[in-house]
Amino acid sequence: MYAVIGGSGLSRLANLEVMRRKVCRTPYGEPSGPLTFGRIQGREVVFLARHGYGHTIPPHEVNYCANMWALREQGVQGVVSVASVGGIRHDLAPGTLVVPDQIIDYTWGRRSTYFEGPGAPVTHVDFTAPYSRALGDKLLAAASACGERLLDGAVYAATQGPRLETAAEINRLARDGADIVGMTGMPEAVLARELSLDYAAVGVVANFAAGRGDSAQGIALDRIEEVLGDAMERVRRIIEQLVTA
Ligand code: HPA
Repeated sequence: MYAVIGGSGLSRLANLEVMRRKVCRTPYGEPSGPLTFGRIQGREVVFLARHGYGHTIPPHEVNYCANMWALREQGVQGVVSVASVGGIRHDLAPGTLVVPDQIIDYTWGRRSTYFEGPGAPVTHVDFTAPYSRALGDKLLAAASACGERLLDGAVYAATQGPRLETAAEINRLARDGADIVGMTGMPEAVLARELSLDYAAVGVVANFAAGRGDSAQGIALDRIEEVLGDAMERVRRIIEQLVTA
């Protein structure tokens, strides 16, 4: 069974035939909401809305530890994280879908490891390749099987939010080698690794990042919803193909 974590613009999977919802408690508190179990063309999938079902939890207040723990407890074979991002690279225009392969973490003050606190062993996980290549390849294969364009490879810059970045900050991220920017990629990815979960992401470009492309003078926030509406439809098709492959 796959888990899907939906971000902004994907608070439910329209093609999911919902069977039950489960409220989970974890040693780290409650996840963003109940887990939604359902079927897509007969295949069981568990879905979690990262920001809560009413989109009430901002990126810096998401309980990433509880979310990943709760999904692991369900024995999922892989976690697909869907996250809206800003495009830094010029070819990553609004509406583009991309599977990131690297991360730079600029977040702070978020609980980002299970290995802390009394009695926790000192543990270092390998994070050279922060995403599962195997699951990323399956996403790419699913996209090509259903004729959806999904780009392979991008460096994801995880920023703290909830504010968007300044143009100078985006220039710095670009100099650092980042291609896309979002607020939720970390610590989600590293917690998945600590739990040995297969984890891959689909970045949905909602807007050009600050100072880039048509965001040169500012980001038109009112346009984002429309872009995400159309793009998430394509993400749903890819996920449907992935789980039924
Ligand atoms: N910056 C950070 N996070 C985002 C953006 C952005 O421009 N767009 C969507 N999520």
